[in-house]
Amino acid sequence: MSRIMNWIDERIPFSNSLKLHVTQYPAPKNFNFWYIMGSLALVVLVNQIVTGIWLTMNYNPSADGAFASIEYIMRDVDYGWLLRYMHSTGASAFFVVVYLHMFRGLMYGSYQRPRELLWIFGMLIFLVLMAEAFMGYLLPWGQMSFWGAQVIISLFGAIPFVGEDLTTWIRGDFVISGATLNRFFALHVIALPLVLVILVFLHLIALHEVGSNNPDGINIKKPKGSVPDDEKAPFEFHERYTAKKDIVDAIPFHPYYTVKDLVGLAGFLILFAWVIFFAPTMGGFFLEPPNFQAADPMKTPEHIAPVWYFTPFYAILRAIPDKLLGVIAMFLAIVFLFLMPWWDRCKVRSVRYRSTLHKVNLTVFVISFIALGYLGVKPATDVYTIMARIFTFLYFAFFIVMWFYSKNERTKPLPERVTK
Ligand code: HEM
Repeated sequence: MSRIMNWIDERIPFSNSLKLHVTQYPAPKNFNFWYIMGSLALVVLVNQIVTGIWLTMNYNPSADGAFASIEYIMRDVDYGWLLRYMHSTGASAFFVVVYLHMFRGLMYGSYQRPRELLWIFGMLIFLVLMAEAFMGYLLPWGQMSFWGAQVIISLFGAIPFVGEDLTTWIRGDFVISGATLNRFFALHVIALPLVLVILVFLHLIALHEVGSNNPDGINIKKPKGSVPDDEKAPFEFHERYTAKKDIVDAIPFHPYYTVKDLVGLAGFLILFAWVIFFAPTMGGFFLEPPNFQAADPMKTPEHIAPVWYFTPFYAILRAIPDKLLGVIAMFLAIVFLFLMPWWDRCKVRSVRYRSTLHKVNLTVFVISFIALGYLGVKPATDVYTIMARIFTFLYFAFFIVMWFYSKNERTKPLPERVTK
């Protein structure tokens, strides 16, 4: 075995890379619950790819055959129902895990210098993930697949001058048709997953270049004589490993965090399996009832709502009376998140040591996001529309208000070293 390893290591840096990036990666010793989500997102990504490959073996990407092939997978293919539910539940689980992962970043200021690029890669992942989920949802060719796609694609029609041509270009037809299904299939099974995997790789490279943040948001203690705190990343990449013994606040990823992540994984799998076996549609939130009927271009469902993970953005879109302005607001809701490292001008990262104002601001933001998510599944009645406007206002206020107060924020003193 060791001769084989030596042979490989003389040709590619296999053992060294494994040590540097996995087993001996120096991770701050105070990681908590929130730090499990990154590994879980990786697990869900693998689940989606593997179950996706098996689904593709029996799926038929045509307007005539798609719906029937899903029924075939559910009823006749051995364990087809399991593969399908693992994939559909996996899509929702992906967003649960990623939203919690992003919230952790917001709480501990993990987007701040020097982790801006890490955050940007994360946001690009989020964007691609949304496109991936949207295109995947068309594939069963159910009523909601069809009409949901119809609503979302028609939004591009609001863009002046090029809007109409753009929607035709996206659909590949004047209406949503088999041509649309074919291209969405191609993008969903190969193009976007490939981009996603590359982005996740870059995300991890960016993380390992500057090192992980932690719940205290302070740099883990550096070796003597290295660059001062505010000049660069906590450590130069190689310095971190060569002077490993001096980094007193870090512990090797293996076995300490591999074990901790396994506990998180066990908890996650219990919940995941429970949904798959006992509530695969999750009361219409993970798989919507109209999607169990084949797409019918002549019959609009009574109430069209996107899947839960899109609803906060959908509620923002509907809150604005003008279609174009609504589309712009929805787009800006994501752009504002991208710019997080620049809205926040505070020198202190973690919410633990920040002002009460910041804590309130972050709490209001989370409440607004959840409220918008709720309003997005509800019909746009007068009361709901007013509420959606208030929460949209609060959503954007989070960023803008922060830009003003964060520069001279009254923060608490930081600890010398990471705490528990
Ligand atoms: C497929 C989706 C994603 C995967 C597989 C993934 C994976 C990871 C992993 C394994 C880590 C290290 C472990 C941890 O800190 O939890 C990490 C850290 C991080 N991720 Fe992600 N991530 C994903 C999406 C995102 C998104 C959407 C964002 C935000 C826009 C983001 C922002 C961050 C940040 C800021 C860190 C560093 C956190 C810190 O050190 O405190 N990630 N990611």
